[in-house]
Amino acid sequence: MSAGLVQAAYIVAALFFILSLAGLSKQESARAGNYYGIAGMTIALIATIFGPESQGFAWIIIAMAIGGAIGIYYAKKVEMTEMPELVAILHSFVGLAAVLVGFNSYLDAPVAATHAEHVIHLVEVFLGVFIGAVTFTGSIVAFGKLRGVISSSPLNLPHKHKMNLAAVVVSTLLMLYFVNADGSMFALIVMTLIAFAFGYHLVASIGGADMPVVVSMLNSYSGWAAAAAGFMLANDLLIVTGALVGSSGAILSYIMCKAMNRSFISVIAGGFGQEISISSNVDHGEHRETSAEEVAELLKNSRSVIITPGYGMAVAQAQYPVYEITETLRAKGVNVRFGIHPVAGRLPGHMNVLLAEAKVPYDIVLEMDEINDDFNETDTVLVIGANDTVNPAAQEDPNSPIAGMPVLEVWNSKNVIVFKRSMNTGYAGVQNPLFFKDNTQMLFGDAKESVEAIFKAL
Ligand code: TAP
Repeated sequence: MSAGLVQAAYIVAALFFILSLAGLSKQESARAGNYYGIAGMTIALIATIFGPESQGFAWIIIAMAIGGAIGIYYAKKVEMTEMPELVAILHSFVGLAAVLVGFNSYLDAPVAATHAEHVIHLVEVFLGVFIGAVTFTGSIVAFGKLRGVISSSPLNLPHKHKMNLAAVVVSTLLMLYFVNADGSMFALIVMTLIAFAFGYHLVASIGGADMPVVVSMLNSYSGWAAAAAGFMLANDLLIVTGALVGSSGAILSYIMCKAMNRSFISVIAGGFGQEISISSNVDHGEHRETSAEEVAELLKNSRSVIITPGYGMAVAQAQYPVYEITETLRAKGVNVRFGIHPVAGRLPGHMNVLLAEAKVPYDIVLEMDEINDDFNETDTVLVIGANDTVNPAAQEDPNSPIAGMPVLEVWNSKNVIVFKRSMNTGYAGVQNPLFFKDNTQMLFGDAKESVEAIFKAL
């Protein structure tokens, strides 16, 4: 393949990637978006592998076969609820790849035509390794927190902000030294170690409730790490792809921060959830329990019902029986709708994907902002495996770690039924006063079994 043909293929692949992003922004076109992405990546791989600069064809094929087989195995095996963990660990690979490409590009530097070009290459190497190293350890911590092997509460080292600042300042000084000394393996290694520690500390300091933003922020970092690798390898498509991932991840982080009423800077500096005391010892009073039969009776006598699903629906795989009761109630003339919180579940759009999988019609699935004012006129709300996203403490308790986060105002409806297995807290580890309100009843048990029992009773 000639260099010209490779460039042409890269442009086509880049267009496919843009179409892919556009497709992924809507549920109806998400499948097509995925296909565009696959087409773009296939073109990109073929053009790169058969391009004039590639060598060691057999090695590439062996590596791709092994990597591809591992990827397919895990992608097939992974549960929807484990998806964010998979995404986090994949980000760590991008980070590690950028570090390795950086060291390789430093040791085996391309011949530079001018001194300026040489300096630019050194800066690319340094920045690429820095971003890659931060992404690598940060993503591993995010993976650990999402999987539950690392505590989701924020790590609170003394002088944490000063330590972060010191890491950035020392790394900048090392970069100046690196460039002035015309490259220095010592400076590169010291900075890499600092960046590893910085990435670890940055994500470890962020509390559970802010994890969604962290995952999308790491997504953005992995894009910039890939773009930096593209500069080092002089590969235009890698630069474009990295920039697309980097900027779309940044936009997503911004949207999520806005949705959660968080300041982006404070979240990435590990600023939330630590100076605040968790008021878990407050006595909220007694909660009331109910049964599936009683809930079925309540639903039959309701004219309007809103279902607000959360992570527990995903764990229990309750979306299929939820669809069944939705259809049964709609057939009886009950107005059934869904209210989706932007961070319900464990990844953006988690609930929408599950409900679409169970064939719930899109037009009755509404975003939080579209439905929040309607709870007043709603007879019954079914909170199925959701907790933090329906917690009134976000509005009522300024000392709560989730204070200020917009929530679904389910308590404004006449009756609230909460489906969960115990009185345990949700992801953010905060007690939920909703469970103790007069119009709330708890339906304990696995969400799928509870919904099936209601379906039978209906
Ligand atoms: P959570 O606050 O995590 O609450 C889920 C509830 O489901 C738990 O209280 C749990 O109570 C219940 N549950 C678990 N398994 C169940 C089962 N089999 N049957 C019935 N109930 C079950 O969920 P949420 O309201 O969806 O809020 C999401 C939280 O995750 C937010 O704090 C958000 O910040 C965070 N988060 C979100 C994302 C994204 S991007 N969406 C990413 C990472 C973190 P029991 O144990 O008592 O059953």
